[in-house]
Amino acid sequence: MTAISDTPQRSYRTVNWGRGYSTLSEEHNYAIDEVEGSIPCELQGTLFRNGPGRFDRGGVSYQHPFDGDGMICAISFDQGKAHFKNRFVRTAEYLQEEKEDRILHKNVFATLKPGGFWNNAFDFSFKNVANTNVVYHGGKLWALWEAAPPYQLTPDTLETLGIDELGGILAKGLPFSAHPKLNPVTGELMNFGVRAGLQTTVRFYRVQPNGQVVVDGTHTFPGFAFVHDFVYTENYWIIFQNPMTLDPLPFVLGLKAAGECLKFADNQPTRILLIPRSGGEMITLEADPFFVFHHINAFEEQGKVIVDSIRYEEYLTTQEGRDFRETDFSVLPTGKMWRFEIDPKARRLSSRVLVERSSEFPQVNPSVVGRPHRYAYVAAIDAPQGNAPLQAILKMDFQEEVQQVYSFAPDGFVSEPVFIPRPSSQKEDDGWLITLVYRAEEHRTEVVILDARDLDQGPIARLKLKHHVPFGLHGTFTPHVFAR
Ligand code: CO
Repeated sequence: MTAISDTPQRSYRTVNWGRGYSTLSEEHNYAIDEVEGSIPCELQGTLFRNGPGRFDRGGVSYQHPFDGDGMICAISFDQGKAHFKNRFVRTAEYLQEEKEDRILHKNVFATLKPGGFWNNAFDFSFKNVANTNVVYHGGKLWALWEAAPPYQLTPDTLETLGIDELGGILAKGLPFSAHPKLNPVTGELMNFGVRAGLQTTVRFYRVQPNGQVVVDGTHTFPGFAFVHDFVYTENYWIIFQNPMTLDPLPFVLGLKAAGECLKFADNQPTRILLIPRSGGEMITLEADPFFVFHHINAFEEQGKVIVDSIRYEEYLTTQEGRDFRETDFSVLPTGKMWRFEIDPKARRLSSRVLVERSSEFPQVNPSVVGRPHRYAYVAAIDAPQGNAPLQAILKMDFQEEVQQVYSFAPDGFVSEPVFIPRPSSQKEDDGWLITLVYRAEEHRTEVVILDARDLDQGPIARLKLKHHVPFGLHGTFTPHVFAR
């Protein structure tokens, strides 16, 4: 293992970035009283965020940040004031490990149980980390993880109530992904679940505003698929089948975790699957191999289907022999904003890159999900080329094809920017972007509010938390004010 040397050209120090992956074991509940700037009074509601909060157990470090135990943060805004609360999702596995203070379970990405082969071979169970997203819908708050049913929590106290099988629909069936999307037209929460082996089965769900779950079809197609996200339009459910293969032997023998047995198959195409929502045959289009974790949005226009996504030229694997806090970004593939234009009738596909700067965690105004959008917001790197940790927020205007970037480098590291529309706003970008910025020098996190119309003016408010919040994954906003 070699240490990475920090060059002066870099926008960050690796050691500073790595500290953002420190465990936060304390659970807090307080009014945020250190505020620079002012919180808009019209901003009313609760931002829920999920992400790994613990990266070690009994003095043993986890091998991958995505194996970290899910911790929910609730930041509520009410009449110009804000409140912070965080609690771990008390999954069955978390409670057992908490009691014994040692790693008892195998994890999906890289962390095995101690004891090597004899303790890991032929163990196909996983710890449900419940760490990827959190959404409030139909009166329920769910912590989501793509390989299992959601955990339900109380929205005001963040107390864990237990696994929610959605009225029995998920029992022994397919999971419920961490990327549901609220349909702005019907008020339904659209989602999918996927199970992959030699062939892949995908199921689509609609959760009505009253919480009733409707299964919208189950489809099976050949080959293994690693599908993290989906998009939908008026007429189609859309998923991208990344060209991945799973080498099962080291997993079965307990030598490697499932995530480490995945390989990018650069001799296979990436398949774009359009599944008609009203029934009918699946449309499959093939492209040169690439990998997508997250889509920005999709819509239909003049008979064409447009999908905007963050595309990598290959899968991001862990760097063998290197602690994840010392990741060498210079060798990682970059995530770029691409547009895919599909003609479903002619079965034609064209695509082009729209933003060269490496970015992740795309968001749009929730009122345009599944419909034409003009803007997208992403967490991006400080420099226009290369790869690095996410330190900036980028706004893309697809109509003018111009970008705006606000950077928190060198000391700040950003998370997903959640877009919150201003109440009764008419313009698509009239609202706020809220992101959590980790300040490495102080080892503290700030909740930063930007005016989405103009990122150049900088934050309109910085809410300083009393502690750090580890780098998180996804979150959602609800206009309900909880956790006061
Ligand atoms: Co995701």
